[in-house]
Amino acid sequence: MPPMQPAEFIRGRRVSLGPIDLDDIDTYVRWINDPAIRPYVNRPWPTTAHEERRRIETLVAAEDAVGFAIHLRDGNRLLGRTAIWNIHRVNRSGLFTIFIGDEEMRSKGLGKEATALTTLHAMEGLNLNRLELEVFAYNERALHVYEKLGFRKEGVRREAKFHAGRYHDAIQMAILKRDWSDELREQFRGYLDGSHAGAFPASGATPNGG
Ligand SMILES: CC(C)(COP(=O)(O)OP(=O)(O)OC[C@H]1O[C@@H](n2cnc3c(N)ncnc32)[C@H](O)[C@@H]1OP(=O)(O)O)[C@@H](O)C(=O)NCCC(=O)NCCS
Repeated sequence: MPPMQPAEFIRGRRVSLGPIDLDDIDTYVRWINDPAIRPYVNRPWPTTAHEERRRIETLVAAEDAVGFAIHLRDGNRLLGRTAIWNIHRVNRSGLFTIFIGDEEMRSKGLGKEATALTTLHAMEGLNLNRLELEVFAYNERALHVYEKLGFRKEGVRREAKFHAGRYHDAIQMAILKRDWSDELREQFRGYLDGSHAGAFPASGATPNGG
């Protein structure tokens, strides 16, 4: 029997974002304990299945956060997770996180697409004014992706991270609603599959298409 089609909240061209399934817990635990990921997601200690389950349950239940499982549309393979944490209802801000679990699936454009879809949802779906993130200075791939998508560097927390025998800076970045030009918006909409484009109408269009 072919694997079941995962629920798709946002369908991109190559990946979809959908609800996080607790049945995938063992895969998440394997990924976040992997030395190839944990320096980037700040987990310098072992994470148990129990802890990870609690983290996901908190994320799913929280009114001030939203999390997505990332699936490859072709074959429905689970790729990783993306989330917006600390959504502040007055400041209209949130904190973005992402990981693609398997190295063989990184650097194929999938993380950029998932970042773009999550950002589009943050700015248009959740009506946030500001989506911020923090990235360690040695994570050149992630920095490249965020800059390419229009996140701007705002500050540095000097030597905030100890990794591989020395301290490294943590770079703070954000994208604001006022950075959200029609051009940038269209760039982000370009990562959507056409069948879900109606959820994020083009500038000037009304939601009912009128
Ligand atoms: C960061 C991450 C989400 C990016 O997703 P990805 O699918 O690997 O990246 P993409 O293929 O979409 O894009 C990678 C881009 O960086 C570039 N790149 C790859 N390695 C690079 C490096 N060492 N230095 C600079 N740029 C690099 C690629 O050329 C590509 O740019 P392009 O689109 O201009 O060609 C993913 O690598 C990941 O999950 N890493 C581990 C966890 C992590 O770092 N999370 C983020 C914490 S802030």
